[in-house]
Amino acid sequence: MVVRSLLALFTLVVLISVSLASESAWNGHTTPGSTNPTRFSPYYVAPGTKSYDSNSPLVHYSSHWKEIFSSAYIHKSVRSTSHKGAYMTFRFTGTGVEWFGNTGGRHGIAKVYLDGKLMERVNTWSSTTRRQQRLYWNFSLPYGKHTIKIVNTGQKQNHSKGTKVDVDAIVVTLGSNPTPSNPPQNNYVPVLQNVAASPQNGFPSVNLDTSSPSEQWTLMQKGNTGVHAMQLAVISDSHAIIVDKVEHNPLTVDGHPAWAALYNLNTHAVRPLRMQSNSFCAGGTFLSNGTLINVGGNPVVEDHTSAADFGDVDGLQAVRIFEPCNSDNIDDCEMFEDHSRVRMASPRWYNTVLRISDGSAMIIGGSLKGGWINNATTNNPTVEYYPPKDISGSNGMPVKLQFLVDTLNSNLFPIAFSLPDGKVFIAANQDAMIYDWQSNTERRLPQIPNGVRVTYPMTGTGLLLPLTPENNYTPEILLCGGSTVDDTKPGYEISSQDPASAQCSRMVLTEDGIAAGWQVEQMPQARTMPDAVILPTGKILIVNGAATGISGYGNVINQVGASNADNPVFTPVLYDPAAPAGTRFSSAGLPTSDIPRLYHSIATVVPSGSVMIAGSNPNLDRSEIKYGTEYRVEWLDPPYMAMDRPTLDNVPEKIGFEQTVQFNVKLPSTASGNVKVILMDFGYVTHAVHANSRYVELASSIDGGLVTVDGPTNGKIYPPGPGWLFVVVSDIPSKAVKVMVGDGRGPEVNEAAIAK
Ligand SMILES: *[C@@H]1O[C@H](CO)[C@@H](O)[C@H](O)[C@H]1NC(C)=O
Ligand SMILES: *[C@@H]1O[C@H](CO)[C@@H](O)[C@H](O)[C@H]1NC(C)=O
Ligand SMILES: *[C@@H]1O[C@H](CO)[C@@H](O)[C@H](O)[C@H]1NC(C)=O
Ligand SMILES: *[C@@H]1O[C@H](CO)[C@@H](O)[C@H](O)[C@H]1NC(C)=O
Repeated sequence: MVVRSLLALFTLVVLISVSLASESAWNGHTTPGSTNPTRFSPYYVAPGTKSYDSNSPLVHYSSHWKEIFSSAYIHKSVRSTSHKGAYMTFRFTGTGVEWFGNTGGRHGIAKVYLDGKLMERVNTWSSTTRRQQRLYWNFSLPYGKHTIKIVNTGQKQNHSKGTKVDVDAIVVTLGSNPTPSNPPQNNYVPVLQNVAASPQNGFPSVNLDTSSPSEQWTLMQKGNTGVHAMQLAVISDSHAIIVDKVEHNPLTVDGHPAWAALYNLNTHAVRPLRMQSNSFCAGGTFLSNGTLINVGGNPVVEDHTSAADFGDVDGLQAVRIFEPCNSDNIDDCEMFEDHSRVRMASPRWYNTVLRISDGSAMIIGGSLKGGWINNATTNNPTVEYYPPKDISGSNGMPVKLQFLVDTLNSNLFPIAFSLPDGKVFIAANQDAMIYDWQSNTERRLPQIPNGVRVTYPMTGTGLLLPLTPENNYTPEILLCGGSTVDDTKPGYEISSQDPASAQCSRMVLTEDGIAAGWQVEQMPQARTMPDAVILPTGKILIVNGAATGISGYGNVINQVGASNADNPVFTPVLYDPAAPAGTRFSSAGLPTSDIPRLYHSIATVVPSGSVMIAGSNPNLDRSEIKYGTEYRVEWLDPPYMAMDRPTLDNVPEKIGFEQTVQFNVKLPSTASGNVKVILMDFGYVTHAVHANSRYVELASSIDGGLVTVDGPTNGKIYPPGPGWLFVVVSDIPSKAVKVMVGDGRGPEVNEAAIAK
């Protein structure tokens, strides 16, 4: 995106809020080339789709339809009928179809048929009149010729005053014929010339072990996120929350496209959330009382014509609150926003949010406004807390972090983990440090070797490796992927074809470990934007990302569509952190996907033990051209999913610090070996940052079917808040049970720091 002067931005915000004050929460879509804000309606013709107006000669109507003219309709006309049995047919070639029309108090029920098969009964009634609504959509058709038929049933819901059904436009996703001559480019290897130019990207030696045929991984595509999955966190046994940016997602709420939703992990149903502000590139965390906060975001987004594409409420200082939602029934779960009362002290775009040892949120870095790469003008080199704290006399205001000045330019979405001594590890660009937040002091660590940058837009990923009684809860950090591209170069000197880094770097955060420095190894494939997911077995799954280019869209040369990256990596790799160096990576038995997962993708473990993979959207708004906006969900099941697994019973809802608790376990008859109790935080995933991701093995013993387990010693080992408990035997985990770690109380509120 091209960022305009603040003045222009301000003018537009004023313009929009004046003209659309009554519905400012979501209005303000302005078509490129125009400065007139119009409704942010669901009707949208994405790149790669084609719109057919209601009066196109290709759209056929039975009798009893009339044409109505108004500038409120798409191309100023709509076809309408109240006659039972009246129908419309339209034949198209493509992979998806959308029907747009009006809803209102006199509208009735239609049946939608695809290729002669009834797909859905669509109720077009709404209490207030709404134009340009998406009434039906299906994006999962096999490429080819299809016919959509819309029939007025003559039926209506009880309080409707009529049986009207309208057709305003039909939008077809053109798609393309998947031909065998055009297979996904797997196992991309940087060309030799590039390897020579950057030895740290040298083609690695791959150690693939051979797994027995019974150890089958499976990959299944099932479900559709409805809103693009930019940010995701598992909130309960049954649901994950998905947060996107303001864009033309197919899922709608209150007559406009939704940009957040709750996804049912069991039924795959999605329910939109009502968001006010633009959550584009926000971060998030659970607090110690189980409330989730979603922090930061985007102001108005503009395009090159200076038109505001999305003029919703400015989200830069937003703190959005999602109270605990633990039951299957999610009807009352909603995102709460009150921008005049609850907000950050400074604007942040691309900030990392971390739950620290006292159960509050540390909000790290970010940029003062949207743009592409960070710089000294836009940088927000500070941390602040939620609830606010008084650190070194800050009195709730942001505390400066020199580290975030020294790590410009590629330092957005820092990688951060709360350490078992309560301090915080932070990596940004090529650097790392340990931050003692209580005394506000930084301890710099050795630089990441070989010039590899690990944070946006040279995005790698990072994890805190499992903390176990065996390693005496000694913290070790793993950073993987990223890029060696020079972060002072302008976009026109960076290419989507620049090789990503295959490097993983590990360091033990003890005096000896720091003296020994980063230990380097190579992934089988280079990746920018990888997602690293700790499985309940303690092994790490690396998925998603691209072998070339960098994060973001619309900034570099050789963009693919708008993507700054190319050559998606389709095969996951498993990393065993406990294996000897040289034998840790394996892709044996791991299935290959055919869905590119580039910028704005996610992956997480879910309570069943499966890995949910979703997202990818290197675009300003929804796009259907390569690399388009991806709504399909994939489920990667480790071999244990198909095995006889331990089952848990009577797990307490709360585990206090230093508290000993007991619960029942039934082990599979085949199980042998040690029984381990694992406490995990699945993290808040966005932009390859798995904030709060944590794996803590608790001291435990088993007697018959009774497990006795000691809660973590304190919030430094596991920051107080929600967690997931697994029992693992012979590398086979149970399903997870949600527990509250600590006393479940909210983080301490510093009255002085909030009284401003
Ligand atoms: C979309 O169409 C396909 C193919 O007919 C069908 O299997 C699928 O259920 C449809 N999805 C929806 C949401 O109607
Ligand atoms: C509509 O009316 C019918 C018949 O009176 C009733 O059985 C049904 O529950 C009503 N539906 C709704 C949604 O109110
Ligand atoms: C810093 O970034 C902003 C936003 O991308 C841009 O407008 C500005 O020109 C940049 N400043 C410098 C000095 O590069
Ligand atoms: C948890 O604490 C936060 C911050 O003080 C507060 O906003 C939220 O309402 C609390 N949640 C619950 C469930 O008490």
